[in-house]
Amino acid sequence: MRMVDLIEKKRNGFSHTKEEIEFIISGYSDGEVPDYQISAWAMAVFFQGMNEEETAVLTDAMVRSGDTIDLSPINGIKVDKHSTGGVGDTTTLVLAPLVAAAGVPVAKMSGRGLGHTGGTIDKLESIPGFSVEITNEEFTGLVNKNKAAVIGQTKNLTPADKKLYGLRDVTATVNSIPLIASSIMSKKIASGADAIVLDVKTGAGAFMKELSDSRELAETMVKIGRNLERKTSAVISDMSQPLGFAVGNALEVKEAIDTLKGEGPEDLTDLCLTLGSHMVVLAEKAENLEDAREMLEELISSGKALSQFKVFAEAQGGDPSVIDNPEKLPSAEFQIEVKAEKDGFISGIVADKIGTAAMMLGAGRATKDSEIDLSVGIVLNKKIGDSVKAGESLATLHANTEHVDETAGKVRESFTVSDKPFDSPPLIYDVISE
Ligand code: URA
Ligand code: CA
Repeated sequence: MRMVDLIEKKRNGFSHTKEEIEFIISGYSDGEVPDYQISAWAMAVFFQGMNEEETAVLTDAMVRSGDTIDLSPINGIKVDKHSTGGVGDTTTLVLAPLVAAAGVPVAKMSGRGLGHTGGTIDKLESIPGFSVEITNEEFTGLVNKNKAAVIGQTKNLTPADKKLYGLRDVTATVNSIPLIASSIMSKKIASGADAIVLDVKTGAGAFMKELSDSRELAETMVKIGRNLERKTSAVISDMSQPLGFAVGNALEVKEAIDTLKGEGPEDLTDLCLTLGSHMVVLAEKAENLEDAREMLEELISSGKALSQFKVFAEAQGGDPSVIDNPEKLPSAEFQIEVKAEKDGFISGIVADKIGTAAMMLGAGRATKDSEIDLSVGIVLNKKIGDSVKAGESLATLHANTEHVDETAGKVRESFTVSDKPFDSPPLIYDVISE
């Protein structure tokens, strides 16, 4: 087989066989196929697409390019959740203890990563003492004992995807649905999930801005799941504005605690109940989504979900008293209000800009080696649809410097205030499952 013939075949709109895709991915992993040929091939895929079978084979080849995690020592059906990313997405922090309280084993492998805020691990490290430096045996042991544990990402997970994603990033080929879908699903499958719940974001603050693209991505991932025998459901949810109120590390932990107490923001609570219900059903802990949702609501109102969070945090070295006393979380020195300049109704909040502003305060990493400040971030005081008076606070900056004019400007300009009443956007647009 020659790579040049395979590039030509894809360029001309033909489908690859299983052997051809395996040749491409293993050749690329081994360094036998050079970057320039993979770049040309990725561009051909960008324009010509891939069918369902090719996409599944590509995913499987990427899974097999590195280590796979064996979660078989953990009892029960392991359901993982993945979000395609947004701003202020606190769902993992809520869902891990919530569905664990419902008996679903949560074996979370998570990253730090670049972004507006840190990753789930950074956020959890705002709980004093919390550590993800545990061995694989401790990890599986903790999940069996407490139903939930978090560990850092294994280095050699889907190396072919890592290499290909890096190349796509600099060859304008990221935005291809089969390539995105196989990239995401390969990582989830290699991490050992039996079943997967996907939160596919849509709207201005999301990777996929158009609903039709988000739906196609969701459908493609659900089909990969079916072909590779992982039960998969996808929820398409709104990211036209940040989720919840808090964007920051410790601030989001506080928001997650509030939500587990039943006192969280309406949108975050609703999304967690929706995603959580799918997780509970896929784990076969409830017959249907209605029963699952009722079960989760009861776990919140009885305080069991919150107790589960304490057990989980303490088992990994975290100070559980923080959960009853969130004022023990790292907090910023200054709280600065960003005020509205006129009366009206909030008709837009550009999530990306809020994210960038949080990053300017130090909540996220710009490069792999930058330090993050767990205490800083932004708390929104208004969301789309709310009315506002001139001088009222739109958002509170939590900062460790008083020199925040540029950041405050960015937050102010991310809000659009209109004269006429404005409806808040729907939270869930669609659900795609088998
Ligand atoms: N996220 C991923 O993990 N992979 C992609 O290709 C795009 C987004
Ligand atoms: Ca949030």
